[in-house]
Amino acid sequence: MRTKIVAGNWKMNMDKEGTRALLTDLVAKLPQTSTLVMVAPTFVNLESAVNQLSGLPIEAVAQNMHFEDSGAYTGEISAGMLRSVGVQTVILGHSERRAYFHETDELLEKKVRKALENDIRVIFCFGEELADRKAGKQFEVVQRQLSKALFNLPENAWEDIILAYEPVWAIGTGETASPEQAQEMHAFIRKGVAEASSEKTADSVSILYGGSVKPGNAREIFSKPDVDGGLIGGASLKAEDFIAIVTAFD
Ligand code: PGA
Repeated sequence: MRTKIVAGNWKMNMDKEGTRALLTDLVAKLPQTSTLVMVAPTFVNLESAVNQLSGLPIEAVAQNMHFEDSGAYTGEISAGMLRSVGVQTVILGHSERRAYFHETDELLEKKVRKALENDIRVIFCFGEELADRKAGKQFEVVQRQLSKALFNLPENAWEDIILAYEPVWAIGTGETASPEQAQEMHAFIRKGVAEASSEKTADSVSILYGGSVKPGNAREIFSKPDVDGGLIGGASLKAEDFIAIVTAFD
């Protein structure tokens, strides 16, 4: 049985008070569930989120990380710093990081390796743009993104990898991939992991879908055999909506 995961990516939202209040609300409303629940607040609120959630079944994770240990990288945060405040998981490769901060597949490979070296689990995001899909190149693009950053990793590294397929055209647009499109891509991804590592690894890696997942469409998307959960942006900022998505597996 693969781990079911629902992770909320808060992006650049929620100040100190907002973070505290939303976490309090989530903790109060979260029912007993076997789904692994994560939220990613901004860096300034991350340590307090880790502390507030200590011993509770919601994990506070980071939205990004630098690939060096320390040094002259103004504004950046290292894997060691994340570990030092109790962070165990980081989101890497989000399409907004790729688009607005020019993160490349080569850079992401370095980040992934650094995170794993520091025992930090990675939620690795990737996905094609609309023009790629229109040109029928979505599989090629995804294959390239995964090959560069992940497919040379040793087999045991996969224990700390969670994949998040996020078609760029579906992020924050209100448009979702159909459950069939998600399943088709997730099956392709799993096959790629099997070829790059092993069937066993491919069978156990969780592949999340992201892009306008809402309470109204989560159940249908999550019902597909290769969809193991979701990475949620907009709908993770309202406790009721996020909890409704978390419980869509139950
Ligand atoms: P969205 O964002 O749910 O608002 O589309 C998803 C994401 O960026 O991870």
